[in-house]
Amino acid sequence: MNKRFYLTTAIDYVNGAPHLGHAYEKVVADVIARARRSMGEEVFFLTGLDEHGQKVQQAAEAEGKDPQSYCDGLADQWQAFVQRLGLSNNDFIRTTEPRHKTIVTALLNRLHQEGHFYKAGYEGWYSVKEETFLTDKDQNPDGSWDPKWGEVIRLKEENWYFRMGEHKDWLIQYLEEHPEFVQPTTRRNEILGFLRSQPLGDLCISRPRARLSWGIPLPFDPEYVNYVWFDALTNYLTVPAIRGDVQAKAVELGQTATDFSAWPADLHVVGKDIVKFHAVYWPIMLKALGAPLPKTVLVHGWWQKDGQKLSKSTGNVVDPIAVINEWGLDAFRYYVVRELAIGPDGNWTDDGFRSRYNAELANGLGNLLNRALNMLNKYRSGIVPAPSRELAEDAATAVSTTAAYLKANELQEALVTIWGLVNRANLYVEQTAPFRLAKDPTQAARLDEVLYNLVEVCRILAVLLAPFMPQAAEKIWAQLNLPAGDLRWPLTAWGGLKAGHQVGAPQPLFPRKDLVPK
Ligand code: MSP
Repeated sequence: MNKRFYLTTAIDYVNGAPHLGHAYEKVVADVIARARRSMGEEVFFLTGLDEHGQKVQQAAEAEGKDPQSYCDGLADQWQAFVQRLGLSNNDFIRTTEPRHKTIVTALLNRLHQEGHFYKAGYEGWYSVKEETFLTDKDQNPDGSWDPKWGEVIRLKEENWYFRMGEHKDWLIQYLEEHPEFVQPTTRRNEILGFLRSQPLGDLCISRPRARLSWGIPLPFDPEYVNYVWFDALTNYLTVPAIRGDVQAKAVELGQTATDFSAWPADLHVVGKDIVKFHAVYWPIMLKALGAPLPKTVLVHGWWQKDGQKLSKSTGNVVDPIAVINEWGLDAFRYYVVRELAIGPDGNWTDDGFRSRYNAELANGLGNLLNRALNMLNKYRSGIVPAPSRELAEDAATAVSTTAAYLKANELQEALVTIWGLVNRANLYVEQTAPFRLAKDPTQAARLDEVLYNLVEVCRILAVLLAPFMPQAAEKIWAQLNLPAGDLRWPLTAWGGLKAGHQVGAPQPLFPRKDLVPK
């Protein structure tokens, strides 16, 4: 049975509308999913919503709704968002679904029976907004609290704890022995530094119902619900388990084995703020369950706009849907992946977006396709001449370099490489000057060569670009009049266009916006 390449995104809180940060992460994951499929892997791509916990309960209360109907209302909007981003996810999990709750309950029971939990009392400062107890370190020297914590109260509570602290040593060793576990390296070093420099406490995995009712009940103590992060992280295992994953079955989830094999996850794509949950809590939870660990947690940075934090209250936001409505889905997907490498923080500027659109999409790629098809139609009635290999090597290098970057999740570098080929082909037009060759009948054979190389590069570019810009790739393919179908990686081999093939007419891929009257 083939193990699928299993990748996930963080599941978003449903306490508001989706924004640029959410969109970015999902697009990054989608490009990786599509690239892996293109290169012949079976992929399982999961995304979804994190619906329990205090944030959601409070947001529902603020609107005077019960949490479930509040979530149901927003879930429609978020699922429409996933469609709008063109995501190729294979499933969409909502943590309020029975399939999820059943498995979380089973896992809680198992860990409880096997002695991983204990009940204890605790008194401390508690941030209502962030749903977390604070330590002395979080307090300002004058005894006040940073406004980011919101209301801070003194709270005394009995709760259930997960014996997390005892796992610290093996986790450090695991991180040391598996450099690929947290990427990029800077994030791995952060986690290692955190683990080495301080004791790892046990994790409180319950909330008293009296304070928070919106969660999965602890099956062994009805006075409590499960801590939202325990519930949320488990989603990565829930979905393959319920689908009959053989590995997850080995973790005794009681499912029937099918031909579905996804666990362990190959890639969790997450933002920098939630690395600790994914690189510390989650592997320890899995270790306690005896489950194999995910291969890689890929950590991306955060977007700002105009050098400032994204914030609804100050209006410093980028609405991905508005951008997509105005510029098209592919332009949005291109910009976010091209502008920001996976790791550092990024800065959205409308000018930056516009200039990449015009320079790289309209003038770069769009113009190349337009010229190639235009000239072939004009000089050869759209009929592909005999194959020529003048740009074959440039194309082959671009293909293999792009493949290597894609496998290493270096998506920005992959796009830079692809644009190397776009620029090479545009330069080739300048150097060979087919418009001059066309005026000289003795140059007919040379013109054939040039025209072949140009349309063939366009064909290969469609395949390379398909994971990033699926719609533009299909449009290129359609304009080349090639049969619709999956643009898989083997189609990057030089010589796919055959002599005598009739191409279609050029249509602008990315209309130049500065020329379009408002
Ligand atoms: N519900 C948790 C994740 C649970 S995963 C088991 C959560 N949700 S969230 O809605 O707050 O964030 C979802 C993802 O969006 C996180 O990976 C987060 O880092 C990412 N982003 C939120 N704001 C962002 C930016 N401004 N820029 C880039 N990504 C950002 O955390």
